[in-house]
Amino acid sequence: MNVLIVEDDPDMLSSCERLLKRAGYQTLVAPSGEAAIKEIAEGADIVLTDLRMPGPVDGIGLLKWITKNKPGLPVVLMTGYGTVKTAVEAMKLGAADYITKPFTKEELLATVGRFSEKRKLEIEVRKLRKEIRRAAGVEGIIGRSASMRAVFEKISAAASVESPVLILGESGTGKEMVARAIHDQSDRAKQPFIPVNCGALPRELIESELFGHKKGAFTTAVADHDGMFVAADKGTLFLDEIGEMAPAAQVKLLRALQEKAIRPVGDARERKVDARIVAATNQNVEDAIESKQIREDLYYRLSVITIQIPPLRDRREDVPVLVSHFIDRFNSIFGRTVGGVSPQAMDVLQSHPWPGNVRQLENVIEGCFAMGVKDRVEATDLPATIRVATTAHVGDVPSLTESEKVLIERALKAAAGNKSQAARLLGISRTRLYNKIETYKIEE
Ligand SMILES: Nc1ncnc2c1ncn2[C@@H]1O[C@H](COP(=O)(O)OP(=O)(O)OP(=O)(O)O)[C@@H](O)[C@H]1O
Ligand SMILES: [Mg+2]
Repeated sequence: MNVLIVEDDPDMLSSCERLLKRAGYQTLVAPSGEAAIKEIAEGADIVLTDLRMPGPVDGIGLLKWITKNKPGLPVVLMTGYGTVKTAVEAMKLGAADYITKPFTKEELLATVGRFSEKRKLEIEVRKLRKEIRRAAGVEGIIGRSASMRAVFEKISAAASVESPVLILGESGTGKEMVARAIHDQSDRAKQPFIPVNCGALPRELIESELFGHKKGAFTTAVADHDGMFVAADKGTLFLDEIGEMAPAAQVKLLRALQEKAIRPVGDARERKVDARIVAATNQNVEDAIESKQIREDLYYRLSVITIQIPPLRDRREDVPVLVSHFIDRFNSIFGRTVGGVSPQAMDVLQSHPWPGNVRQLENVIEGCFAMGVKDRVEATDLPATIRVATTAHVGDVPSLTESEKVLIERALKAAAGNKSQAARLLGISRTRLYNKIETYKIEE
């Protein structure tokens, strides 16, 4: 606890300093208000100042400076005989307390002690708040809908056990965020979280990437290689787009899950690994199993805990919170002060079907910032693609077929009835356009 003593009388200054030091405080000293302002930067927790001091900044001047520039920093005034009235005025200006000279050692220590306790508590509270904020920041997953609250509960439940987890959800729903949140809330949080995009790994490399290889296992294996499983040892291995993994690798993965051991390519021996597996896919699992993209036995092993993240269009009440979250974020990234979105813009955002889910919403908000939106996002600031899909219909969100029909009608109108041109506008073949015109019974 740092006490800054501001006093022009050198005897008074040194006796206060001695007293406080003996009571265990650290002290800073200043002979004038101006000097005090410089000392405050050193990190004072309490300021003990004389009221009357020569020079341009007296006790009241210092108090005013502190309430303006360092609000919350307690200022205790030391007042001489006859200045009590001024001290009372000073309390109105925001002084924490005052003591009247001459004061006893006990009086001084009692007063400073009171503020020192308060200050300690404040520091503690601030630290706690920061921790809470960081905890929310680690997850950073925003959502207030019942379905997202259920997801949060599942995350906590999954974090407290070791079983594999399968996360399902459309693209951009936050599967990777959920995987990280499970890791961060688990006992493995301090160990590595290793994400692997199974779709991005070439088929012939996936086994060696996952399980490692021995030197000479194949022509390019010039040295032993550990692989992702070993990298994630004691931590979490996040297998993203699991449906993209080659069937042969899926067999090995299943084995690794069952045995908790892996065999590097070209190695005769198995090696124990302790990696917690979290997998994700944006495919429809039933379809993926049906089409043998995901092995059924692997699926059963992976889906001990399944977390299904609903698409954004099924939880529209999350849109406003997400929007303000992203506005906050881009305000700090771009150094801006955008205040929010207009009611009309929010209507558009809330009724859009968001095929790209939260990621798409995030991109739209970022786009508004990039285009230099002013104090508020207006409906006209939103990209035409978003506005079109909703303004074309009143009330509920159009189904895919409805939107398609509207688009075809528009293309035909834009092409003045010329079907070849309309088909080109739509990016489909003429035959398909003819079929669609018939299906939707579009009047020409
Ligand atoms: N609930 C949410 N709160 C805050 N941000 C979110 C939320 N969900 C998604 N996001 C944001 O959307 C983006 C996409 O999230 P993430 O990468 O986790 O999605 P995904 O489901 O893995 O998508 P894909 O299947 O395309 O890989 C992230 O950049 C993240 O910032
Ligand atoms: Mg992802």
